[in-house]
Amino acid sequence: MTETILGTEPMQTYTLQNDLLLKALRGEAVERPPVWMMRQAGRYLPEYIALRNKYDFFTRVQTPELVTEITLQPIDIVGTDAAILFSDILVVPQAMGLEVQLNEGIGPVLPEPIKHIDDLKRIHVPDVNDSLHYVMDAITLTNKTLAGRVPLIGFAGAPFTILCYMVEGKGSKTFDKAKAFCYQQPEAAKQLLQMITDTTIAYVQAQVQAGVHVIQIFDSWSGLLSKDDFETWAMPYMLQIQASVQASCPVILYPKGSWYSLETLANNGTKAIGVDWCITPEFARAQTNSKVTLQGNLDPAKLLLPIPQLQQEVHNMISRFGVNNYIANLGHGITPNIPVDHAKAFVDAVKNYVQ
Ligand code: CP3
Repeated sequence: MTETILGTEPMQTYTLQNDLLLKALRGEAVERPPVWMMRQAGRYLPEYIALRNKYDFFTRVQTPELVTEITLQPIDIVGTDAAILFSDILVVPQAMGLEVQLNEGIGPVLPEPIKHIDDLKRIHVPDVNDSLHYVMDAITLTNKTLAGRVPLIGFAGAPFTILCYMVEGKGSKTFDKAKAFCYQQPEAAKQLLQMITDTTIAYVQAQVQAGVHVIQIFDSWSGLLSKDDFETWAMPYMLQIQASVQASCPVILYPKGSWYSLETLANNGTKAIGVDWCITPEFARAQTNSKVTLQGNLDPAKLLLPIPQLQQEVHNMISRFGVNNYIANLGHGITPNIPVDHAKAFVDAVKNYVQ
């Protein structure tokens, strides 16, 4: 497949040498599933830690050369079949005008969160080609450096998960303030969700224009909602984003923990869904039609198993999901305590899969 990279420099074309991920997303037959790991560019890699010790988080995110280097690390070191752009879902609230701090060991802090409808006056729907142009520059440079070795995944947070951080002001196990904001101030919550959605639609469209091959939407906290609340506060906004880019780029939705709505999503145009380890492959397949591509779902803590046992788990997982319409992945992000050789053993076990 020949792709054209759009950018300010003269247009470049390259041939994608590994298109397993795109084949799986199109539902084409493959010899083995593609494999990548959520949060594969991150703190389990000593090469990432070395850059973290030199540059603060937003310097890493806003410098295309650093983004390219970090994005390519897992391709070179563990050999995944796709790259995911190094960035963060919280660049969106930042571009909308809220201060976001990312301090090592503390996690994200938004010192002036949204509490009331009047607070919406402090934020705006930005021109993403201005405020987030560094992301598009990073996509251009990353694709140029990858030179077609593997496809590049772009991403954004789903509106409900972004609202969680904008209202709660920090990470949380329950996001009870954010949920209470939706239930107690529904008009304000809907306005905020729509502002995030409008920003995110422009953002993912700009990423596709800049050359990403796939978009993943992370709804990391949607599983804190009941089915009815998921279908009120999360799903409609995620589906707007999906509808806005699906014609030009495959979209993977990852509504973590929202197993109860797989069937509804599949009936609303969703072509690819990431699932976690709390549901079985059989359940996920039964809830979705045979055209849906599923992604997941190894418990990241299983990467700590002795390698022969890990290989067995991977084999079992692939046999149960099936080789086609499937993307091997973890059920959530890789954690910092995983030895690099175990991450590589996971990837190799998928690559060496024989039926
Ligand atoms: O490799 C990749 O997946 C690409 C890069 C990526 C990061 N964040 C880099 C990052 C991606 C896809 C994200 C998404 C993200 N960010 C999510 C959704 C995915 C998920 O895990 O559910 C969420 C909820 C965030 C918000 C966020 N950013 C948190 C909670 C934290 C701190 C705790 C943590 O998990 O690391 C971050 C910071 C962050 N984003 C780091 C990295 C590598 C670690 C900070 C550092 O290295 O200094």
